[in-house]
Amino acid sequence: MHLFCQESGSGSTLVLVHGFPFDSTMWDPQRAALGEHCRLLTPDLRGYGRSTATAESTYTIDALADDVIETLDSMGVDQPFVLGGLSMGGYVALSIAARYANRLRGLLLIDTRAGADTPEAATGRRELAAKVDATGDLDLVVPSMLPRLFAAQSLLEQPDLVTSVERMMRRSSPAIVAATLRGLACRPDRTDFLPAIEQPTLVIVGQHDAITPPQEARDMAKRLPNARFVEIREAAHLAPMEQPTAVNQVVLDFLRHLDQAESLA
Ligand code: MLT
Repeated sequence: MHLFCQESGSGSTLVLVHGFPFDSTMWDPQRAALGEHCRLLTPDLRGYGRSTATAESTYTIDALADDVIETLDSMGVDQPFVLGGLSMGGYVALSIAARYANRLRGLLLIDTRAGADTPEAATGRRELAAKVDATGDLDLVVPSMLPRLFAAQSLLEQPDLVTSVERMMRRSSPAIVAATLRGLACRPDRTDFLPAIEQPTLVIVGQHDAITPPQEARDMAKRLPNARFVEIREAAHLAPMEQPTAVNQVVLDFLRHLDQAESLA
């Protein structure tokens, strides 16, 4: 399906995919800084932001990835691009790396992991999805998740950011949240695929990320043949929103190195 996709800047293409249960406005702190260097495309995944929903009761990660590819095709993106994703967006990016490798020239894995849910975590997600479907109540998701997204310093010093992330989460439809939870629960483990990723990859993680912890991100980077690992200080799961200046700098450095390496090749 065709997704709504916000576009800024010009040049080579960088696609950034949002996490759960967010939308493409989470990349607003990246738009101006990264748009100076490239053509930044930020899709809203199906059912989120300004993209329409589909009727399936499970939104698999591979289906979300196919939507992204279909959207880029319809926008005429025919040259290899850099693809990045935060958390669930990272799962989508890894699905694209596994199934559409020739489309990519680089990968950004931000506050994410390659592993699947444990059986207990998957059961918990499915039970939560059933409750959200039955009640339509996002209070089953948002209040418990919100404080875990941020570093203590962000909670203390950036109350407006916390409020705007809560608003973004509450804009999601309960039925879509439930369908996504089911998709997250059945996503494949891509750990064994990591050594096959040839594209230069930047792994970024917030120092205090409790959802996808730094140690897991470091292990993921070690399995990637061509990866750089960066830990962002005083940030947690939403590093690009909590510490945009630091994250933008690291991403810009990565894009410049990629351009240089390609021009020498
Ligand atoms: C996300 O931020 O996309 C979610 O935390 C992903 C997850 O729950 O696995």
